[in-house]
Amino acid sequence: MNGSRVHEASATGLLDRCRDRVRPALVEAVARLHPWTGEMAAYALGWADTAGTPDPGGSEGKGVRQALALLGAEAVGADAAEAVPGAVAVELVHTFSLLHDDIMDADALRRQRPAVWKSYGTGPAVLAGDALLAQAVTSLAEAPGPCTGAAVRHLCGTLTTLVSGQAEDLRFEDRPWSGPGAVEPDEYRSMAEHKTGALLGCALALGAVLGGAPDRTVTTLDRAGRHLGLAFQAVDDILGIWGDPGVTGKPVHADLRQGKKTYPVLVALAGGGKAAHELDALLASGRPIDGATAARVAALVEEAGGRTRTREEARRHQDAARHALREAPLRHSAAGELDVLFTHLLDRTW
Ligand code: IPE
Ligand code: IPE
Ligand code: MG
Ligand code: MG
Repeated sequence: MNGSRVHEASATGLLDRCRDRVRPALVEAVARLHPWTGEMAAYALGWADTAGTPDPGGSEGKGVRQALALLGAEAVGADAAEAVPGAVAVELVHTFSLLHDDIMDADALRRQRPAVWKSYGTGPAVLAGDALLAQAVTSLAEAPGPCTGAAVRHLCGTLTTLVSGQAEDLRFEDRPWSGPGAVEPDEYRSMAEHKTGALLGCALALGAVLGGAPDRTVTTLDRAGRHLGLAFQAVDDILGIWGDPGVTGKPVHADLRQGKKTYPVLVALAGGGKAAHELDALLASGRPIDGATAARVAALVEEAGGRTRTREEARRHQDAARHALREAPLRHSAAGELDVLFTHLLDRTW
């Protein structure tokens, strides 16, 4: 195996180990839901099909947030067991956000299967998301130990931020691509930090909060996770244009059709030049973006440097995340595992 394959294998093993560690508590939390919302949650989490039958082939998702919660705790010398309620909470919040996000974004595919709203209807999917959110907060609030209150406050702040990020994301759809009122790259960064960075920051910090780490360390972990989230969202934007739906399990070109102000398109337009001008004209025409037009838009974004500059943006935030981690007094082995995970998340294809 070459170096990057070794890295990938160890990152996958790490995610699997954390998923296995958290799953029993996650199953227990979902079992506490109303049977109908529980069935939808089990479908969203890849455990069952729409008939409620166990589905060994279902995708549970990458499990990034639960892994960050466990590794954050281990990094401050706490027992990972203390972090499990935090891991459950962030994974449930993530699942809730995906259920509602697919409705907002009109995306029909998630984790290789029809999205929950497609399989069960919009109303039921909203309700299942609500149920997951309520259970996320409940699971954390019931965690034993003296730091539970601080952990719940941290999660609640994150929820407010995540919802603000989703609001910004939706509001950007109606803004022009260029000229007065166009979305600036810095506005995009703020939106992405809110919708994605906040939860990754919370995940990395929450296990440490539960483990009683000092405020300074918690703040540093949160900052590292936010940068990781910005890198993660940049890669998600790339995969939304050039990814393979067979691998990502999500639609391709849907962001373009929906008028999402993703980073690759924004920086392509900002770069100027012939391809950027053609891209601008195509997007400003207001014509619905069909399959052929989406392919042309993707090609122009690439030609205008949007893909390369988004990779650079992801790399900058990955470096900032690493830099932040070095500022905290962390256990060597867990910090090393976080490093492996950070690399894997930047290089991922799903
Ligand atoms: C998707 O998150 C939503 C974003 C914040 C980009 P993931 O890419 O972690 O989704 P799963 O859990 O692996 O399906
Ligand atoms: C990510 O949203 C943030 C949340 C879901 C809160 P996106 O809309 O960018 O993510 P995908 O691409 O649908 O997974
Ligand atoms: Mg979406
Ligand atoms: Mg969205």
